[in-house]
Amino acid sequence: MTPEATQQLLDFAYIAATVLFILAIKWLSSPVSARHGVLAGEIAAALAVGATLCNPELVAYKWVITTLIIGAAVGIPLGMVHMTAVPQRTALSHAFGALSAALIGIAEYYVGVPNVTRFGMAEIGLEVIIGSLTFTGSLIAAGKLQEILPQRPIVYRGQNIVSLSVLSAALLLAVALVINPANTVLFPIMVAVALVFGVLLVTPIGGADMPTVISLLNSYAGFSAALLGFVLNSKVLVVAGALDGSSGFILSVIMCKAMNRSFTNVMFGAFGQVQAGAAAATEERTVRSASPEEAAGILAAASSVVIVPGYGMAVAQAQHKVRELYDALTKRGVDVKFGIHPVAGRMPGHMNVLLAEADIPYERLVEMDEINSDMPQTDVALIIGANDVTNPAARTDASSPIYGMPILDVDKARTVMVIKRSMSPGFAGIDNPLYYMDRTLMLFGDAKNFVGSIVRELAGGHS
Ligand code: TAP
Repeated sequence: MTPEATQQLLDFAYIAATVLFILAIKWLSSPVSARHGVLAGEIAAALAVGATLCNPELVAYKWVITTLIIGAAVGIPLGMVHMTAVPQRTALSHAFGALSAALIGIAEYYVGVPNVTRFGMAEIGLEVIIGSLTFTGSLIAAGKLQEILPQRPIVYRGQNIVSLSVLSAALLLAVALVINPANTVLFPIMVAVALVFGVLLVTPIGGADMPTVISLLNSYAGFSAALLGFVLNSKVLVVAGALDGSSGFILSVIMCKAMNRSFTNVMFGAFGQVQAGAAAATEERTVRSASPEEAAGILAAASSVVIVPGYGMAVAQAQHKVRELYDALTKRGVDVKFGIHPVAGRMPGHMNVLLAEADIPYERLVEMDEINSDMPQTDVALIIGANDVTNPAARTDASSPIYGMPILDVDKARTVMVIKRSMSPGFAGIDNPLYYMDRTLMLFGDAKNFVGSIVRELAGGHS
């Protein structure tokens, strides 16, 4: 094959990959088409990597193969983690993606110096700064989510000033390098300062803001890949990076809205600190509990039930039992819907994925805004392992750290039943007044076992 024909074939593969990346993002936006989206993304990535490997300019296959083997050895076990560990796994993926972008930028600098142009230096500088800060920031985020590091925000006086000064220092060093790209002393200092800024960026963030930060880091990793595309003159990398960066950014905005928080608040608000006195307040109040038999009786007598799944359903892997409960109630003519909060669980779309795995019809999954108007007419709100996303303090208690976060208004249903193992708080570490209401029954137990017991009771003849 002539070099021109090879180049045309590679260009065609890159265009096909670009189109598939765009379609993947489009299809991933709905649970109905999400599986196609994943497949399209996989084919696109395979095409882009395959075409790059066939590039005649590639000379050192032994290094490519070595790194592929190392990457696969790390990546395969990472891909097989339990679904509840996906947020920290995602943070690690961002860390590795950003590290590779930063390392390639660093290599480009040292290969090009002293002939790096000012424009080229601006691209490399920005790319390496974003890649480096995303690398360390994502590692800290993964450590917090895995509970190797303290989950709560670590804050001290003047923190924002220190962080902004470090970021400004990195940017000033980049400007100095643009003025004189041949200054090889400043380059490693700029990288080091950016790495430190990544740590400073994420340590003060914790609690319920972590998902937004993960999504934001995803967006940074994408933008750094897009900038790398400019450095390497790779259009497919520019497009894929820009798609990754902008979709991550849009997701962060959606999550901020779902929690009624601004970006500045997420980044600088140190949300998620332990609420003093929350535990003490818990001890004085009483709750009513019920058995699986009583719960089954109440559900069997209802005509409308809204099931609210949360993180506990994921931990217990109760989704298949929940499907059995859905079948048992639907067979009796009960109208069963699922109320889905945008940040229920530990990753965006967590509940949708689990309920889809259990083949619960998509049209029964109703988003928060829509289901909330049904709540006052709902006979039973059955909460399965959800806590923060049902906490009415977000509406009523201006001193609560989650005040203003939109919640599922389960407290407006005629009867509220909550399946959880104890009175322990959820992710935000705060007490939930829902549990002390007269209309609330606590169903203490593991979600899978308790739902299984209710299903058995219903099969045993509750009418
Ligand atoms: P949480 O508020 O975390 O509450 C989960 C509840 O599940 C806990 O109170 C726990 O109580 C219960 N639980 C745990 N294991 C259980 C089991 N085996 N059986 C039954 N119950 C069990 O969950 P949520 O309501 O889904 O809210 C999500 C929270 O996580 C929000 O604060 C959100 O901001 C945050 N977050 C979300 C994401 C995304 S993007 N979705 C990512 C990270 C963090 P017991 O211990 O008493 O059983």
